[in-house]
Amino acid sequence: MPDDQFRHPSEALAREAHADRETYEAMYKASVEDPEAFWREHGERVDWIKPFTQVKNTSFAPGNVSIKWFEDGTLNVAANCIDRHLKERGDQTAIIWEPDDPDSVEGGGAQHITYQQLHAHVCKFANVLKNLGIGRGDRVVIYLPMIPEAAYAMLACARIGAIHSIVFAGFSADALGARINACDAKLVITADGAPRGGRVTNLKDNVNQALTHDYDVVKCLVVKRTGQQIAFREECDYWLHEEQEKVSDVCEPEEMGAEDPLFILYTSGSTGQPKGVVHTSGGYLVFAAMTHQYTFDYRAGEVFWCTADVGWVTGHSYIVYGPLANGATTLMFEGVPTYPDAGRFWDVCEKHKVNQFYTAPTAIRALMGKGDEYVQKHDLSSLRILGTVGEPINPEAWNWYDRVVGGGRCPIVDTWWQTETGGHLLTPLPGATPTKPGSATLPFFGVQPVVLEPQSGEAIETTEAEGVLCIADSWPGQMRTVWGDHERFEKTYFSDYKNYYFTGDGCRRDADGYYWITGRVDDVINVSGHRMGTAEVESALVAHDAVAEAAVVGYPHPVKGQGIYAYVTLMGGREPSDELRKELETWVRKEIGPIAKPDCLQWAPGLPKTRSGKIMRRILRKIAENDHGALGDISTLADPSVVDDLIENRVNR
Ligand code: WTA
Repeated sequence: MPDDQFRHPSEALAREAHADRETYEAMYKASVEDPEAFWREHGERVDWIKPFTQVKNTSFAPGNVSIKWFEDGTLNVAANCIDRHLKERGDQTAIIWEPDDPDSVEGGGAQHITYQQLHAHVCKFANVLKNLGIGRGDRVVIYLPMIPEAAYAMLACARIGAIHSIVFAGFSADALGARINACDAKLVITADGAPRGGRVTNLKDNVNQALTHDYDVVKCLVVKRTGQQIAFREECDYWLHEEQEKVSDVCEPEEMGAEDPLFILYTSGSTGQPKGVVHTSGGYLVFAAMTHQYTFDYRAGEVFWCTADVGWVTGHSYIVYGPLANGATTLMFEGVPTYPDAGRFWDVCEKHKVNQFYTAPTAIRALMGKGDEYVQKHDLSSLRILGTVGEPINPEAWNWYDRVVGGGRCPIVDTWWQTETGGHLLTPLPGATPTKPGSATLPFFGVQPVVLEPQSGEAIETTEAEGVLCIADSWPGQMRTVWGDHERFEKTYFSDYKNYYFTGDGCRRDADGYYWITGRVDDVINVSGHRMGTAEVESALVAHDAVAEAAVVGYPHPVKGQGIYAYVTLMGGREPSDELRKELETWVRKEIGPIAKPDCLQWAPGLPKTRSGKIMRRILRKIAENDHGALGDISTLADPSVVDDLIENRVNR
């Protein structure tokens, strides 16, 4: 990959943007030389009820990891996202909602919700929550389609100090149940059905299944979206529209501490069950809002569209909290990129005159494959900035995005970050940073990336470097803990490399100091921008009674980025068959959700193990990648002959 292909911001953009090169460099320098002073100033971008006096109180020290920002300040996140805008922009659209079916009558077509209306909806919703017994610190699981009520529910929780935990509506009943239990939720908010791409999922059924054992303690609030038949349980279910009748649209925001949790979001790690990533109120909001403004060069009155689902962190930070804290107009899309046809994204951009468009490389690759005519049919002249997130973007997709979608005039911001980081850590700023296709370029304000030699853990001081990516000091949007398990937090992120936050990603820094993410160095894979632990898929497989053992790895997939490759060893007496393969695929869908279904499933009479019984995943990865020339040393295997069988029977798709 040539490193010298800089794309420079136009002079006009450099002049008009929130930051040009000089501003970026000066602000960056200030942010790392004196973080206290920098964040004292930028912490003022949110409205505090009681102003903070302390700015930063953070430690990455082994055994004593503690992260606090603005800790003596108090605020309300919902008031920051709504109330404080009412005077100036009460009649401005806060949320544009675009339904799955562009012509639907019952969905009423697109909706424009003003800040004033948002205020009324959220206050009512908050009062409904209170009536159901929800208060400060209680956990509420949200399992909703991409409808305005998802944003109302999040903000209603924030308004009364409850902690939300959104579960992506594509997760199965089992995965939902596990998350409800893990955070001890008092309430689940769901809808009757979720239309996506013209098909409807019965969400309420999934909730009923998830709550089979707990329905007497967990209540369920149901939004009517499709009007379909559902199994409504009189003793513990409530219709939102009925409950709303009983409450007023006045609800004072609770005064919350900066370090009170705002939300928990479960995400996959390299081991065991998903971790509950905890984000708190003050620092998170400051960071989400600031990155939204600078990374997308967002300006008042513009229409911002992030295509993510609110079930992922990208939806939290860049559909709801960041944009609304900035008084933006944010677009929320219920559907999929290919319904009714592969021009849907561009149709929506044209219809709502979108200025910033933010999506995942997997979507770009999929649409690129459908041909340019779907894009060219539409007037995309409103687009100003394009963004990507979720996985490395290959230069081919980057160039297509630039040329065909952006018409060569829209800077691309390739934003690298994680559920754990709350907002962008590596990203270009449109008016400041020359870009290179495939590079997430340079750190955001206050972020100090370091590249470590993986074995020794030594920081590589030369500009050119390759190794694991760590961050040397805290930033306000950093996660604070793993829900209920601070030890796991320390172990996962601060124990392999002492005094650093370990990202789990590998990276390269080029001669210009630009960062190139090379992918995960742990057992996390990234399928269509969805993060998944190989261990989760393995434990789903071995839970089936035909399976003795399973090993799952990622392999390069042309559209998804990575695909899921599963090696399965059957119990004695069970024979491989196509039926059993299908059964196992269905099984994984049921245990986790459709996104976890293996793309390739290979029957493995034996797995390559060391003499101490550890599965050598390196070898399995190489076989899945069809790169068995590079298997390396296999002499330490307990039984090297299993490798030949695996190579011979590799699944070729
Ligand atoms: C990957 C999504 C390359 C990375 C916001 C990270 C990326 C994981 C990029 C986090 C990017 C995200 N370039 N890789 N621009 N953005 N990743 O928690 O491996 O769902 O660790 O957060 O996605 O995924 P998560």
